[in-house]
Amino acid sequence: MRNYSVVKHISLIYLKYSVYFNFTVHKEKVSMGLNSSLVSELSDSITLRISAWAEELKRQGIDVISFSAGEPDFLTPDFVKEAAKDAIDDNFTRYTPAAGALTLREAVADYIGKSTGVRYSYEQVLVSSGAKQAIFNVLVATLTPGEKVIVPRPYWVSYPEMVRIAGGKTVFWDINFFSSNDDRLNLDQLEHLLDNGASVLLLNSPNNPAGYVLTDREILSLARLLERRDITVISDEIYDKIIFDGRHHISIARYLPDRTVVVNGVSKSFSMTGWRIGFAAGPVDIISLAAKVQAHTTSSPCSISQKAALAAITGPSETVDAVRAAFEHRRDIAVSALSQIEGIALAVPEGTFYLLPDVSSFLNRSVDGEKVVTSFDLCKYLLNKVFVACVPADAFGLPGFIRLSFATGETEIISGIDRMRSALLRLG
Ligand SMILES: Cc1ncc(COP(=O)(O)O)c(C=O)c1O
Repeated sequence: MRNYSVVKHISLIYLKYSVYFNFTVHKEKVSMGLNSSLVSELSDSITLRISAWAEELKRQGIDVISFSAGEPDFLTPDFVKEAAKDAIDDNFTRYTPAAGALTLREAVADYIGKSTGVRYSYEQVLVSSGAKQAIFNVLVATLTPGEKVIVPRPYWVSYPEMVRIAGGKTVFWDINFFSSNDDRLNLDQLEHLLDNGASVLLLNSPNNPAGYVLTDREILSLARLLERRDITVISDEIYDKIIFDGRHHISIARYLPDRTVVVNGVSKSFSMTGWRIGFAAGPVDIISLAAKVQAHTTSSPCSISQKAALAAITGPSETVDAVRAAFEHRRDIAVSALSQIEGIALAVPEGTFYLLPDVSSFLNRSVDGEKVVTSFDLCKYLLNKVFVACVPADAFGLPGFIRLSFATGETEIISGIDRMRSALLRLG
């Protein structure tokens, strides 16, 4: 690896890539009628673009430290891989039922039952090609054209786009994630959105990108408000096992079982992002409609991955515990390093593997002729100057913030934040 200070070579590469590394979120409409107007209005996934760019720079031999990954850097456990190999050897290689193999649906009912405290039968479970597809299919099954979906902000980048493709309209609910525990939900604002006709809430705790984990009190107060309303809750609980400081995951399904669809999967908890298995569990009418959507689009998820997922969720919990502990340790290292940078404000993440620092005090500056006005500019500057890849949180509805993933080694965390500090000092 070349040292990151080899600036000349790097500048050339920067020039080359900055051409296609377009920091505008919304793409221009594709001409020539190749895309429908719906799809051409979708935003690019800025997270995937930055990861791809960082990877490309790495491939060129540049010592890039990437804080942009949205996936654990751990390996899929061996016992899971063995189950997949067995599936191939046993010729478990055909279509399964569209909603997933029965044994897996039963196991998922049990698995989500344990994490939520709600009893599910297999008919209430859909197995999809990733949690993302599960959410999308549930949205398609649930929404009528123009129906309003409440998305807490900051939000995972794909929610508003999925709502849009499914024909709905996103309305945002601002979460005060910097506030102390138990005081983060602005229920008045939520009531206002409900009064204005919103009928679906897309909840996400533990939260990507902010790392907050809603407490039992917060969930209960939310449930009390929602139970008086005609609303469906889609609760994305994909990070439920990556939770710190002895906290417990509380699902809103515990209080509103008849109107909550819980989404989970193996991607984050079992380091299985590439296997593409996610689940949804909830009311039978919604699940069977979502299964129909799936049947006519992808058929069943990959049979081999289903066997792997079955092994993961029914196997020993040690690997999940080890991953959780490793992330907590890294969180501590990253928070302590970041808090030494004067001008950065940070809410300590309670779960997930993301940090969401407020970097607004470094904006509207210029250094060496380069203007740093937005958090997009700041991410560009950090990549350009010190080869550290972060994600501008504009992509998550929060300008003035950047997202750092600590799904990377401890040495990288320490030296990456050190590089950031030197670059930010020049702006200060
Ligand atoms: C909040 C959230 N939900 C869902 C997903 C998608 O998970 P999967 O890879 O299983 O589709 C992600 C992935 O980054 C996520 O952050």
